Amino acid sequence: MRFHETLSEHSVALRYFQPLELGQRVAHERLLRIAQSDYDREIALIATTGDKLIGIVRFSRRIGGLGADTKDATFSLLVSDEYQNQGLGSALLTRLIEVAKTERVARLFAEVLERNDPMQQICQKLGFTVSAPHGDPATVTLEKRL
Ligand SMILES: CC(C)(COP(=O)(O)OP(=O)(O)OC[C@H]1O[C@@H](n2cnc3c(N)ncnc32)[C@H](O)[C@@H]1OP(=O)(O)O)[C@@H](O)C(=O)NCCC(=O)NCCS
Repeated sequence: MRFHETLSEHSVALRYFQPLELGQRVAHERLLRIAQSDYDREIALIATTGDKLIGIVRFSRRIGGLGADTKDATFSLLVSDEYQNQGLGSALLTRLIEVAKTERVARLFAEVLERNDPMQQICQKLGFTVSAPHGDPATVTLEKRL
């Protein structure tokens, strides 16, 4: 809950593509669901300083046609505003890529807003390709084969 209190409206909009009120973000059911990962499907890494959570990155496997997990996974990344632009997002994503490889994920994907330059910058430096917008013209897809 305290982590969510540190996020600006700008960061929230970039992460969730829409304004999402603090009350919605810290709703008990939502936090329970997020905090209890099924590690076969989903792995989250967090960055902390002292007892403060300051960043989180997570991948979730895509579900295939018959309901089985696939070797593709989507990922998301969020760093507390006060700690942005200090290399933390890059460090978290670098570690996530290593963990995803160990977990035999074949491809990582993220759909992000086209105007999200920092995210595109980080991902391109880490070897992701950026597709031209299609479908929703406001978004691009980032992809990396592991
Ligand atoms: C995207 C995000 C995770 C990056 O985290 P971070 O800790 O600030 O990332 P880093 O410090 O490792 O790197 C930021 C990079 O963006 C670059 N950057 C910052 N502002 C920029 C801008 N306006 N235009 C282009 N690049 C920019 C920085 O120069 C840096 O690149 P460099 O390492 O080549 O110098 C963070 O900004 C965030 O949480 N944003 C809100 C949520 C979000 O957008 N999530 C992504 C969608 S899931």
